[in-house]
Amino acid sequence: MKTEEKLLIRALRGETLDVPPVWLMRQAGRYLPEYRALREKAGGFLNLCYNPEFAVEATMQPIRRFGFDASILFSDILVVPHALGRDVWFETGEGPRLNPMEAGEAAPAFDPEPFHAHLAPVYAAVTGLRESLPPETALIGFAGAPWTLATYMAAGRGKDEQAAARQWMFTDPDSFAALIDRLTEAVAQYLIRQIDAGAEAVQIFDSWASALAPNAFDRYCVQPTKRIVETVRAAHPDTPILGFPRGVGSSYGTFLKETGVNGVSLDQNVAPEWAAEALQPHGTVQGNLEPMHMVTGGDALLRDVDRILEALSGGPFVFNLGHGITPQADAAHVEALLRRIRG
Ligand code: CP3
Repeated sequence: MKTEEKLLIRALRGETLDVPPVWLMRQAGRYLPEYRALREKAGGFLNLCYNPEFAVEATMQPIRRFGFDASILFSDILVVPHALGRDVWFETGEGPRLNPMEAGEAAPAFDPEPFHAHLAPVYAAVTGLRESLPPETALIGFAGAPWTLATYMAAGRGKDEQAAARQWMFTDPDSFAALIDRLTEAVAQYLIRQIDAGAEAVQIFDSWASALAPNAFDRYCVQPTKRIVETVRAAHPDTPILGFPRGVGSSYGTFLKETGVNGVSLDQNVAPEWAAEALQPHGTVQGNLEPMHMVTGGDALLRDVDRILEALSGGPFVFNLGHGITPQADAAHVEALLRRIRG
């Protein structure tokens, strides 16, 4: 099937479909026993990310089990700081760690050759996936947004509402802006290479956008995303781009209109009726089921699915969760979700 015929791509180009395409953030992961076995075999999370065979297998697992309409490349946002020469490692059961940058420290250089050489296994996984995926399944590439990457680079981990980066941006704005600029360039080039390798859409994760007050939101989320969109579009005009400035409430509208993304992914705190009115006239909406339903299931799950379908099915829409599926999720509830959406 051609890329433009796949349901995800049609929805991202603005088409209203009878049954929305569905995929879930973190659809590959610890709630699946086959993922835990694969991670064990690989000897750690980063080994999954940097070995194309393992990365392809991890991406394929949820597609085989559930038949989602889209797959998301198995990787992590922190491979970008890693490719820029920062140390990155994973503490099992806790999460990613980096050696923190000092406020005022010079941004790492973006040297395209070693950067893309470091990320070559990711590009190989993308190409391998286009060969392995069922013909109707769209392949999404992704990257972390500059702001969210900078928060992890400043703090070394996720903590304290990313206070380290918020402090740095005010105490030494020039060096912080330089770091954001460097990341903006690197992320744009990274996404272009993923699309070169076969990604059919890309998503930019700004998981910590909610930690930005309005002026900073414009400077460090909206403007860098806009630049990434322009740079990627110049190379790949037809590839849809999704943004996920998580937790920004009414500013999702500003983000959608000003960055030029094709669609926004919404967290679960946004009322779908508001999104239908305020957002869908300007682009595709993706979301936004409370991820806890994948742990608890039952009638409450079905009620919230119905409310979202009812509110958003009249415009361009992709069904997803409001954030990633958690390790406690039950595969049976994922199946119930798909049955409810697809009938
Ligand atoms: O299936 C998929 O969605 C694709 C893979 C994917 C992962 N991380 C795999 C992963 C994607 C798209 C991401 C993005 C990512 N990584 C984000 C943005 C989205 C979000 O969740 O807000 C962020 C902030 C990260 C950084 C990160 N990676 C954190 C904070 C953690 C720890 C929390 C956790 O869930 O463990 C990770 C680890 C991680 N990334 C795992 C997976 C499957 C778990 C690793 C393990 O197996 O132990």
